[in-house]
Formats: sequence, structure tokens, C-alpha cells
Amino acid sequence: MAKYKIEGGSRLSGEIKIHGAKNSVLPILAATLLTKESTIHNCPDLTDVVAACNILRYLGCAIDTQDEDIHIVPEELSCCDIPDGLMREMRSSVVFLGAIIARCGKARVSLPGGCELGPRPIDLHLSSLEKLGVVIAEDHGYLECSVPDKLRGANILLPFPSVGATENIMLAACTAEGDTVIHNPAREPEIEDLANFLNKAGAKVTIRENGSIYISGVQGLTAVEYSVIPDRIAAATYLCCAAITGGEVLLKSVVPEHMNAIFPMLEEAGCAVMVDQDSVFLRMTGRPKAIKLVRTMPYPGFPTDAQSPLMALSCIATGTSVYVENIFESRYKHAAELARMGARINIEGRVAVVEGVETLHGATMVCTDLRGGAALVTAALAAEGMSEITHISHIERGYQDFDKNLASLGANIVKV
Ligand code: EPZ
Repeated sequence: MAKYKIEGGSRLSGEIKIHGAKNSVLPILAATLLTKESTIHNCPDLTDVVAACNILRYLGCAIDTQDEDIHIVPEELSCCDIPDGLMREMRSSVVFLGAIIARCGKARVSLPGGCELGPRPIDLHLSSLEKLGVVIAEDHGYLECSVPDKLRGANILLPFPSVGATENIMLAACTAEGDTVIHNPAREPEIEDLANFLNKAGAKVTIRENGSIYISGVQGLTAVEYSVIPDRIAAATYLCCAAITGGEVLLKSVVPEHMNAIFPMLEEAGCAVMVDQDSVFLRMTGRPKAIKLVRTMPYPGFPTDAQSPLMALSCIATGTSVYVENIFESRYKHAAELARMGARINIEGRVAVVEGVETLHGATMVCTDLRGGAALVTAALAAEGMSEITHISHIERGYQDFDKNLASLGANIVKV
């Protein structure tokens, strides 16, 4: 079992290039099933991407990967089910459901495993697909999906702007008969990236000013070449790593506007943040200040995925910070691990009260989930002494070369 060993105390300084967005490339890989042929550029080298490619191969696609490019030719799909093992490898494999149904007219997938963030229901995915004409039967933990007639456009209101449900509707609707409107869809940049990919392949997806998404069904999608947007959450994480060490970092290949809810929080903590066309520079001197209130919200609000790395920064602040996690039921599992370093965090349901301490001390910790694991690394960079962090496979799902990038900024981190 690989782990990180981190000797805290080095001030980070330097520059790194941000990899393509995990939460963009995954739905786009699912969308390639609807195209004649796809070449995707700027793909991050992540275990979740490997898992998605394994699903595409299992379904019968020919796949070629070359550095950050993935070339997919979805031949005649040989099957339309995803076996339990592959479904469990990646929580977000449910996003393949809409694409498989649109391509094959049926699908068989196991219910996605629970997840370290609390229950991860897919009721909004299923009710939306049913509105588009899918019949779904549950059979021993498997979902048997079929389309007795054909996929037809529908008017869909999402009670919650679920990212995955929005993506599944887009994938099932883009080659359905007639028009689909999604009211109250997710508005994350990754949704726009998926829409741009689909449109480049001949789909007709429009994101209206009022946020609604209009989809006019087309016969089929063509061949397409597309480059994925940078990963705004990886970028936010590296900013927190530089900030907690009182250092500075220049991030290249970012879309600053995707991070507009993150910068003010870092500035309230005392960071100087300067943005340019496709880069962002952060400098921090001295101890961070407390952040009065961090409330995670659907985009364009503060992203839930950046909550834990920012909380690590607040652990050594000169004051008390309050976090409210409004998106996931249980996304504070990292708090107990941070407490082993001397952090003072009180959890009350969705609220976490972080009383800043002067210094953290190195400890042995376990990654509980992807972003929680990144928070442990962030805190260890500033802790006194050595930290060991195990179960780092969680981190490698979403951060390419995390230890190498941090070491290139001067961090004392090794993977063993
Ligand atoms: C996507 O997950 C991201 N994953 C998550 O990133 C991200 O945290 C989340 O969106 C919110 O931004 C990918 O894109 C692969 P949701 P998703 O559907 O689609 C509830 C990371 O660290 N819900 O918007 O699963 C759900 O339980 C990951 O990169 C239902 O109740 O998020 C959760 O509480 C973690 N019923 C909330 O909505 C449903 O049918 C948000 O879920 C669907 C969701």
C-alpha cells in the first residue's frame, strides 16, 4: 500500500501546469460512445480516467492513449452492461448510463457503491431518464434499463442541480427525438465543457442565460476532436498548499473565472492573488487569518470539492473559521485525521467550527476520500516534523503527479 512521507516546514515556491479536469473528462469519455470517433486532448493521467477507459474497452470500444491524448473508436458495441467490479471502481461510472442507453437502447449496471461522502443516491438520474422514455427495473442490485419505444425529448425540472444527473440527461437527450429542456440544471464549468464537446460532434445543446439547458435531438454524432478544460479543484488545492506554507506559486493553464468563488476566501485568509489570462499567482506571508464563513454551494458558489483543502489552511489560522457543507451529507471525515496533527475542529452536522492553532505537528494519517486526502497533505506541508499518509490511492484518483508537483515547488514529500 503506497503512502506519502512528508517533512513539513518547507516554504513552497515555483510554478506548475494544471492538468485537465477530472470531472470534465469523465462525462466526456462517456459521451464518446455517441460519436463516430473521438480524440480527447489534455486528459489527466488519473486512476479514475483509467477506470473510465476500462469501461469503454469492456463495452467494445477501441482505445489508444498517447500522453495526454485519448483516441476512441466506439465500434459496434459488443455489450451494454457494466459489470459490478467496473462500476465499483469509480463512483461516477453512473454517468455512462445515459450514454449506453442512447447508443444501445438498453443498459444493465449495478447500483453504484456507496461512497466516502455519505449516501450517493441516483434517484434524480433515474427519474429524469424515465421522463425521456427509459423503463428501469431494479433486479438484485442491478438496474435493467430498456427503451420500449424510443428516447423522446422531455421537460425536466431538477429539484437539486445535480451535476451527474444533468450530464446523464444531456447524454440521453442529445440523440433523442424532439426537444428536451432541463430546468435548474447544474451550472458547473464541466457541464459547459460537456455541452461544447457534444456540439462539436454535431449535437444541439444550448445553455440559456437563465441557466436552463435546451437540447434538440439530432440523428447521430460525428467524429470529434476536443481539448478538456483545466481542473479548477486541483488548482485550488495547489493554492492552499502554497498558502499554508507561507509561500508562493504560479499556476499555468487555468481558467481564472472558474475559480471566482475561491479567490475571495483565500484573500480573506490573507493571500495576495493575481490572475492573468490563463494563469493565477498566489503569495502568502505569515500565518493565515480565519475565514468567517465558507458555505459550499452549487456553482457559481464555493465548490464542495475545495472545502477540505481550504479547511486545512484554516487549521493554523489566527482565529476561528466556520464551514457549512451544503452539498454532501458527510464530507468532514478528514477532520478526525487533521485532529491527530493537533487541529481543533468541532463538527455539528453540516457545520464545522475550526479554531486555528499556532502549529500542527506531524502525524500518521489515513486518507478517507479524494479531497479529504488532499487536505491531509496540505496540512502536513506546514506541520512540524514528519507525517505519514496512507491509502493515497484515493488522492491518485484526482491529482496527477501530486507528490512530484509539490516536490518541484520545494516540498519535502516522497511516495513510498
Ligand atoms: C460531481 O459529483 C463531482 N464528480 C463531485 O466531485 C462534486 O463534488 C459534485 O459533482 C458536486 O459538485 C464528478 O463530476 C465525477 P451531484 P455528483 O449529483 O454528480 C445528491 C470530486 O471530489 N444527489 O451534484 O455525484 C448527492 O447525494 C467529486 O471530484 C441526490 O440526492 O454530484 C449529493 O448530496 C466528489 N440524488 C448532491 O446531490 C441524485 O440522483 C450533489 O450530487 C444525485 C445527487
